Amino acid sequence: MENRHPASAHSGFIKPARRYVRRFMEITGLIGPYFRWLEHRIARRPGEPVIDGRPMPPRDLIVAVSGTADERWFSERGKSDAAKFMTIAKRYGLDEANAAAVLDWGCGCGRIARWIADDVIRGGGRFHGADLNPTLIRWCAANLPGFYTENSLRPPLPLGDSQFDLVYAHSVLTHLTEAVAVDWLAECARVLKPGAIALLTFHDETFAEHWGPPEVSPALKTRPYLVWNNALEGSNYLSAWTTRAHFGALARTADLDLLEIIPGSQEFPEQALAVLRRR
Ligand SMILES: C[S@@+](CC[C@H](N)C(=O)[O-])C[C@H]1O[C@@H](n2cnc3c(N)ncnc32)[C@H](O)[C@@H]1O
Repeated sequence: MENRHPASAHSGFIKPARRYVRRFMEITGLIGPYFRWLEHRIARRPGEPVIDGRPMPPRDLIVAVSGTADERWFSERGKSDAAKFMTIAKRYGLDEANAAAVLDWGCGCGRIARWIADDVIRGGGRFHGADLNPTLIRWCAANLPGFYTENSLRPPLPLGDSQFDLVYAHSVLTHLTEAVAVDWLAECARVLKPGAIALLTFHDETFAEHWGPPEVSPALKTRPYLVWNNALEGSNYLSAWTTRAHFGALARTADLDLLEIIPGSQEFPEQALAVLRRR
């Protein structure tokens, strides 16, 4: 998710020779073990432990979702991302003090959930997290309030129709190819109650220009959905980039009305955020 860390597919591989090596590793399947080895190395770097009053995941898990082992970043950005999601959701009518049902799709190791789940449950509501990665889901289920379930790369979620007042997903669509992302937009719509809100982040053209690999921003001018490093889909190795206009068009193929897109930030690596309402 972080854009400039050494294990990220965006950084080390830009020289042509390295590109060939990387492609070779993708074709032979060596890229998986190599990428995990890089992540493991990052997790071993020295760093200050942070105590913030919530369970802190092991560093390997933090790296798997954030690309950094920095517990301070994990804690502080998790808290501010959670506040941002809840502020926007409330602006669009969510009342978490009133038995709201909330889904964190692609919850990782609870970077955001650890700041939201308690409040939702205290308000009489239901908090649910779902993720592709069983290790992350096991950690969440053992350490955080709420229900946590695993799902496959493609839908469905193991959940019934029209259950949630809010679905949010931070930096999840950003690791999916277009066809899979489209299926997930429809799946988010399926589990939302009619009129309920989805908050989904993505890499837009502003984020690409300021924080992306140099090749992506110009390429987006002719290709509205671009996949960078097309292997290990769902992991941080693959990153997906799309224009705001194209994201809006994709959302319209699902049962979702696009209410607003907050563009990615130029000042610091913050993805674009789409506010969508289930029809
Ligand atoms: C960059 S991490 C972000 C994690 C978390 N949302 C956060 O902001 O810390 C991306 C997460 O999405 C999960 N993921 C990727 N594709 C998924 C899919 N199809 N369904 C559920 N989770 C997925 C990954 O396993 C990973 O935990």
